[in-house]
Amino acid sequence: MINSNTAIYAILGDPISHSLSPVMHNSAFSHLNYNGVYLAFSAKKIGKAISGIRALGIKGAGITIPHKVAVMEFLDEIDDLAGKIGAVNTIINRQGKITGYNFDSIGAVKAIKEKTGINNKAVAILGAGGAARAVGYGIISEGGRLIILNRTKDKGEKLAADLGSEFCPLEDFKGLKCDILINTTPVGMEPNVDGMPVEKKHLNKGMVVMDIVYNPLKTRLLRVAEDMGCKTIDGVSMFVFQGAGQFELWTGKKAPVDLMRKTVLKALSCSS
Ligand code: ATR
Repeated sequence: MINSNTAIYAILGDPISHSLSPVMHNSAFSHLNYNGVYLAFSAKKIGKAISGIRALGIKGAGITIPHKVAVMEFLDEIDDLAGKIGAVNTIINRQGKITGYNFDSIGAVKAIKEKTGINNKAVAILGAGGAARAVGYGIISEGGRLIILNRTKDKGEKLAADLGSEFCPLEDFKGLKCDILINTTPVGMEPNVDGMPVEKKHLNKGMVVMDIVYNPLKTRLLRVAEDMGCKTIDGVSMFVFQGAGQFELWTGKKAPVDLMRKTVLKALSCSS
């Protein structure tokens, strides 16, 4: 029951209408009888949104596209791992002091390890935003050999330099050999589901192909890769594992991971 003691949490991003964070967290809150509610806010100006969190005493928030890096300057404190990654996907408001964390990295590593090893694999990441930073950091921590591919050269080169990896412009992807390919761009995400970040002819059968986009569950990239015989990893596992980290930070309770996964899969099947 929502009352005057209900703790409010939110997701801040733009666009945000595709987000399943509210259904996932609300189902976990009610499962554990936690007096909390999770809402989605379309936030264009992240600094103003953080002022709103402070003013209203909102207890915590998920931070998503395109604010994962930009949000950092508005926080009081950055957790060590988020600082090393250089991006924040979660904040907590402890009596007015706002601290930034990152659970994307651990979420991505867990999701990949459900399907394949990382150590010594050649891993290509498409994109150089906040999510790419976190996933790339996770890959390097696990001993993967990383290459960043990005549309905007400067941004890709900067991320590659920060992570100590290689960089290749996105248009040169065709010549590249990799064991694992990970899309961290929003290309293919609802409502632009026909988008594909690389051309089919540049994929090959031996690749493991992962998309961190989880809505739709099978992006065009994953459908094409699956048809070619590639092993694929959809975005739900990473999404749920990062959500579990957020839930535990905010509530201090163990996250009901299976329930969270089922809720997300059900919501996706209803929307497709
Ligand atoms: P997030 O925080 O979720 O990572 P972001 O910081 O906005 O979001 O980063 C999105 C990434 O997707 C960027 O690397 C962006 O490329 P640019 O650096 O060139 O802007 C990439 N991206 C977004 N739309 C794209 C598109 N249509 N084609 C290729 N890359 C795209």
